[in-house]
Amino acid sequence: MINRRTALVGGLAVMATPALLINRAFAAETGRPLPIPPVMDIDNGAGNLITARRGQQEFLSGVQTPTLGYDLDYLGPTLRMKRGQTARLTVANATDDPISAHWHGAHVPGNMDGGPQLAFGSGETWNAELDMSQPAATLWYHSHVHGQTGSQVYRGLAGLLIVDDPDAPDGLPNDYGVDDIPVVVQDRSFDRRGGFSYDVGSMTSMQGLRGREILVNGAINPVADVPKGLVRLRLLNGSNARIYHFSISDGRRFFQVASDGGLLATPVSRTAVTLAPAERIEIVVDLSDDTQPIRLVSGEDTNVPMSMMGGGSGGGQFDVLTLQPRADLTPSATQLPLSLPAAAMPIEAPVRTRDFNLNMHTGGMISSMFRGLLGNPTMSINDQGYDIDTINEQVRLGDTELWRITANIMAHPFHVHGTSFQVVSRNGRTVDPVTQGWKDVLLVEGRAEILVRFDKPADAAAPFMYHCHILEHEDAGMMGQFTVS
Ligand code: C2O
Ligand code: CU
Ligand code: CU
Repeated sequence: MINRRTALVGGLAVMATPALLINRAFAAETGRPLPIPPVMDIDNGAGNLITARRGQQEFLSGVQTPTLGYDLDYLGPTLRMKRGQTARLTVANATDDPISAHWHGAHVPGNMDGGPQLAFGSGETWNAELDMSQPAATLWYHSHVHGQTGSQVYRGLAGLLIVDDPDAPDGLPNDYGVDDIPVVVQDRSFDRRGGFSYDVGSMTSMQGLRGREILVNGAINPVADVPKGLVRLRLLNGSNARIYHFSISDGRRFFQVASDGGLLATPVSRTAVTLAPAERIEIVVDLSDDTQPIRLVSGEDTNVPMSMMGGGSGGGQFDVLTLQPRADLTPSATQLPLSLPAAAMPIEAPVRTRDFNLNMHTGGMISSMFRGLLGNPTMSINDQGYDIDTINEQVRLGDTELWRITANIMAHPFHVHGTSFQVVSRNGRTVDPVTQGWKDVLLVEGRAEILVRFDKPADAAAPFMYHCHILEHEDAGMMGQFTVS
């Protein structure tokens, strides 16, 4: 190939030019064994430390990608905490920038929540003391520095947090990494040198950043060896913006057993499930009769602003994770329980109603760009862009409230800190059984109503957040904060 430069310098001198290297595309390495994040049991007592640090990992063959992780090169250990105990851990920051550790989905007070006010600088540590009073659930943790959440999570500052309830065994597969599999799904793009490509212009800020490769626990389209039997998948959508529409490659039924905030009352049979950013779902797939691999697949994400329709990808399906049944692995559960120890949902009459309107300014990319340049938020809630010094709402401890959310232009995953909520309706209709479980993220397109109650306090120095969990929207200001007292 003759490029402009070779034409100018002529044939002799170009031998040493690195044109081939510059144009080299690194092969996406698929089919590696699924990495299982190590478990860190956080029991009563002190001594647990996780250190946020820089690292590198070979996602693509032959190239090391610079990363961030909590203790690990990329992502962090799976933290396990027990209901009824106090989990104590120290988070150290060995990165170059301020970070935080937000326990997403945990019912802990604002001063332990790890939100933007609790960011801490390079070389500093933060001590968290988490009274785990909530039901068993698959939660997660991630950095939450305002304006940096998208890039820090993209580079790896996230991990799973599992709450176990020793007093309420669920009878589900529970052999971690064998038939109880953590599945952190993320999409990532790489630049030509193999680095993560996190480049957010006004267009990406509007759409949310989507990557080309699908990673599970930090490996591209990996393979998990699992027993021939019941297999539980703890799915976390750890992507910045992508919505997944999961199903099994042969279209078989599976059972949903939990949503964001914990177990459902009974397993619900499904063939497909949509998971928005930050949502979790636990499913059980029956592989008793299988010898051939089956794949967890996803449909394309079509959630782009209406004005950008047509530029996106169309309708395709892609692989996420391959499950290889193996007769020499022993399943820990042979039967799916008919009922599960779900937390009851007391619907109390709300004493107050609040409205949250998630706004994106459109009217064309150009004007949005200029608004951005002029410093006005292009993303807001109730027409206010996030301001770390403004308390947007004051909520009373223990009161049940009805929150009415509207979201325009595209679908937005609305998240609330400090509690789990109950979904009352979406676009005027009651929701299906699985959305009736405890939630802390709800995908809203149009309008939705949720019942929410806070049993943990948050003061003005460390308030709780509500925000869109498309991280580019959050970083651009689609977030607010509130006290609970
Ligand atoms: Cu997943 Cu405000 O966080
Ligand atoms: Cu959160
Ligand atoms: Cu949004």
